[in-house]
Amino acid sequence: MLSVKDLVTHFPVDAARGLGSQGPLADARSRTGGIDGVSFEVAQGELFTLLGPSGCGKTTTLRSIAGLERPSSGSVRLRDQVLFDSESGINVPVNRRGISMVFQSYAIWPHMTVFKNVAFPLEVLPRKQRPAAQVVKDRVEQMLETVGLLDYVNHSATQLSGGQQQRLALARALVTEPPIILLDEPLSNLDAKLRESMRLELKRLQRETGVTAIYVTHDQGEALSLSSRVAIMSAGKIVQLGTPREIYGNPSSRYVADFLGGANFLEGTVADASDSEMVVSTGIGAIHVAGQHGRARGSRVVVCFRPEHIRLSTQPPAGTQANCFEGQQMATAFLGDRIDHVIKIGESELRIRSDASLRIHRAERVFAWVDPSDVVALES
Ligand SMILES: Nc1ncnc2c1ncn2[C@@H]1O[C@H](COP(=O)(O)OP(=O)(O)O)[C@@H](O)[C@H]1O
Ligand SMILES: [Mg+2]
Repeated sequence: MLSVKDLVTHFPVDAARGLGSQGPLADARSRTGGIDGVSFEVAQGELFTLLGPSGCGKTTTLRSIAGLERPSSGSVRLRDQVLFDSESGINVPVNRRGISMVFQSYAIWPHMTVFKNVAFPLEVLPRKQRPAAQVVKDRVEQMLETVGLLDYVNHSATQLSGGQQQRLALARALVTEPPIILLDEPLSNLDAKLRESMRLELKRLQRETGVTAIYVTHDQGEALSLSSRVAIMSAGKIVQLGTPREIYGNPSSRYVADFLGGANFLEGTVADASDSEMVVSTGIGAIHVAGQHGRARGSRVVVCFRPEHIRLSTQPPAGTQANCFEGQQMATAFLGDRIDHVIKIGESELRIRSDASLRIHRAERVFAWVDPSDVVALES
């Protein structure tokens, strides 16, 4: 439904580096940063993610789609409408693209009530498209109910917590029922715990409203658990595009593998599942996965968790601990501030990263455990 082709958006060197453009190198370096030939297609109802480190061009891509930047070449189409095309010179203004955007900063309107924040985008629609007052009221209330803020309808927006403000920003972006919504690191200002619950919330919202979304993040876990497909970016280009499982399981380059953190993968079958947690039976035992909607019992999944999320000790953890396994030290690499271990558990070898103070002897028995919220289940 959205098609982005060969998009190139550069910034003049003086804007990018705060330099004048007079020097002898000005011509050669007159353009820098931005994106350099980005292409992808997003299907109806998809949650498509741009993933990459800071400065790789994620925001520039979104801004170019929204019409906030003018690319020097390429095209953007939404359904059968051309929004931008460098060849024919078409450049639909930002307010006519019908695209909603949610930024990292909540960008709610502090002087307005919760109701007014959500109603505003409807009230500023061109007269012909503007719904009647009663319809506005109904739609706003329904949207607030969907994001769980109906009880706050008459509160001032600034009385809301960070998580609530971000839900408000989402409600405001969705109330016009845009064909596509662009989300630029919308959770990155929230603390870790809230981020995790908002992640679920966002996925639920996206499913319920059926809105097509492009999501931008530098957080691998977020990208993998939320997305239907992920495009990994580096230095203004897409270096790999695929489902979370594809890019995680088959990184096409060292860059992608490194960026995704060399996670551990275990094939398994869903043994039990609820709305927010599932138990996957794997070769090393049952693994609990939290923070993801459960898949049907019996379905095949691959669970993965990153080396730095596993706790390692020669002593069993205090109390009962989900996802705790007994194994044997096979190899270590001391890396100054940390140690990488290879631990054999049953027939599997896990890569585990510990802090540098941990002393374990070769072949010693160890206990390894990982918090269910640090485990991601991918489609098999
Ligand atoms: N307005 C701008 N002026 C000059 N350079 C910019 C501007 N916006 C982005 N850049 C440069 O373009 C590159 C990509 O930036 P950006 O799209 O913001 O990356 P990301 O969102 O992935 O962190 C960076 O090198 C950045 O410095
Ligand atoms: Mg950015």
